[in-house]
Amino acid sequence: MDARQLKIQAASVALEHVRPGMRLGIGTGSTADEFVRLLAEKVEAGFEIKGVPTSERTAGLCVELGVPLFPLEEVPELDLTVDGADEVDRELRLIKGGGGALLREKIVACASEKMIVIADESKIVDTLGRYPLPIEVNPFGLASTRIAIEKVASSLDLSGTIDLRMDRAVPYETDGGHFILDASFGRIPDAEALSSALNAIPGVVEHGLFIGVASEAIIAGPTGVKTMKNRGNQEI
Ligand code: A5P
Repeated sequence: MDARQLKIQAASVALEHVRPGMRLGIGTGSTADEFVRLLAEKVEAGFEIKGVPTSERTAGLCVELGVPLFPLEEVPELDLTVDGADEVDRELRLIKGGGGALLREKIVACASEKMIVIADESKIVDTLGRYPLPIEVNPFGLASTRIAIEKVASSLDLSGTIDLRMDRAVPYETDGGHFILDASFGRIPDAEALSSALNAIPGVVEHGLFIGVASEAIIAGPTGVKTMKNRGNQEI
């Protein structure tokens, strides 16, 4: 089974959690795109939801496929958000932001009663950090912010390259007009400590560590789909 089929499987199980009338946060990325496509089929058949997109990219796809959208300002509390992830550990801590939408993704997920992660099993790790950690920063003071991040990392015995994400010849700009630094720290044994320390740096707008945000992860692999909840997992 190819990777796309696995994403579709995870997305279709997540769709079973969506009830009529729900205020629904809609994630960003290739897995979330599959969710949007399946959701659009249901909407076309008469299913009603209020969708809140986590990025301009997702908003574009929803509009194209007829999924009704509302700004978060109009629907500030949501029932459920369904989104992908770059990494998921067994405590449901995540790394997100590979697609650059981490700030809106975190705002939308945290405004939701529940967040379900959808992914294929290649995203499961024992310890976060195999994937570079995206850190969204204000363009003002970029060099100072990078040094502050290096110092924080070093205080936690983390090291590695911190690369400014590029979009061809210019820095990649997020939907919020910020830049992204991708930090290749390797294993992050204390994600909570790193999260708190990054949050304390003024130029850091947000980072891709999602801790205590996801309630459930729906993970598709060649042997089937599993649901992970906090510690441990169970077949569904
Ligand atoms: C977007 O900013 C990310 O957080 C995505 O949710 C994450 O990168 C997963 O994307 P894929 O589903 O494309 O792997």
